[in-house]
Amino acid sequence: MNENRATVYDAIGGRETVHQLVQAFYKRVGQHPDLIPIFPDDLTETARKQEQFLSQFLGGPPYYTEEHGHPMLRARHLPFEITPSRKDAWLACMQEALREVNIEEPYYSAILERLTHTAHHMMNTPEDRKGEST
Ligand code: HEM
Repeated sequence: MNENRATVYDAIGGRETVHQLVQAFYKRVGQHPDLIPIFPDDLTETARKQEQFLSQFLGGPPYYTEEHGHPMLRARHLPFEITPSRKDAWLACMQEALREVNIEEPYYSAILERLTHTAHHMMNTPEDRKGEST
């Protein structure tokens, strides 16, 4: 199918753009007070996996699945308390990163809409339960 239809991945500039996007994103994640507590100090490996994932999410090569199997993203996020405010923080970082690397319309809105949907799906902790141990 990709032989006949351009993918979002190709349209925005492929591997190099996804790399820049992920760098711009984790630069913000690593400075965001709501996100720092749940992310590792060294974001190198997190960024590498996100780059692999976003590649296939945007229609590019399935690097993530090749190395890690089915993404099962919600399950992989269950160890982390993802509250509505952390979901908003994640999306705000992504929105700024998309702008920083100059992703243009219609791709900017299309990508953000899909990521918003996925981010909603990742929430697993109500705001007032954050930090409870049981
Ligand atoms: C809703 C807010 C979100 C929060 C707070 C969040 C947080 C996290 C955290 C804490 C990790 C583990 C980092 C590590 O230990 O290296 C992680 C991993 C990951 N996240 Fe998210 N995430 C969110 C949404 C998303 C979304 C929307 C996507 C996909 C579009 C995504 C894709 C990934 C991937 C691919 C990994 C690596 C999984 C692995 O270990 O193989 N996340 N995320």
